[in-house]
Amino acid sequence: MTTLIKGFVFDLDGVITDTARFHYQAWKKVAHDELGIDINPAVNEKLKGVSRMDSLNVILKFGGKENAYTDTEKREFATEKNDLYKSLIKQMTPADILPGISNFLQAITKAGYPMSLASASRNAPFIIERLELGEYFAAIVDPATLSKGKPDPEIFEKAADLIHSPYADTVGLEDAVAGIEGIQRAGMFAVGVGKPEVLGKADILFPDTAHLDLAKIEAAFAEKRK
Ligand code: BG6
Ligand code: MG
Repeated sequence: MTTLIKGFVFDLDGVITDTARFHYQAWKKVAHDELGIDINPAVNEKLKGVSRMDSLNVILKFGGKENAYTDTEKREFATEKNDLYKSLIKQMTPADILPGISNFLQAITKAGYPMSLASASRNAPFIIERLELGEYFAAIVDPATLSKGKPDPEIFEKAADLIHSPYADTVGLEDAVAGIEGIQRAGMFAVGVGKPEVLGKADILFPDTAHLDLAKIEAAFAEKRK
């Protein structure tokens, strides 16, 4: 099928691999031990796609302690969480790639579309290396270079720039509502992976990664272009 797609930009956590459980495990411990706050899965939902420092602020707000600590103390908590998180992700292997993703990346490569990574995580390059997926991604956005987090479109625009893909010709994949919003604000075509209650605004939605289908995405993209 001929389409006008010029490139794909991917979220990492929740699309390529399920690192949310490791972020949760690490934050749960730091929140309990250091902040005296017990977080739950509903709080964890709010941490998806959100930067490390913003995640800490979400937790502090949940615990009613948003003004209890200095910036230095907050940086220390964030570092402690990241050390814990790193000790968890260092055991990751290609077996942690979500179902269907390897085939999907192969299909995109075969079709000749370049891909880049638009992840808010500073650990993304390490995770891609652990999963042995480096060959598929021409570039990875460095979140340290961003001025705003998702749902701002900046990260998706940078990811598309890195593979020279005009925004209107770019497809973005996301599992978080803030990500879908960012992709669409960048003028890109948004592919959602998840539930319609959460990601209803996506241009096309798949219930999980195993159902991702390049031909369906190409067809939906072409249809929207009509
Ligand atoms: C996102 C995750 O991909 O990266 C968030 O969904 C996380 O939960 C953010 O807070 C930042 O990750 P890191 O690895 O830089 O702390
Ligand atoms: Mg995600």
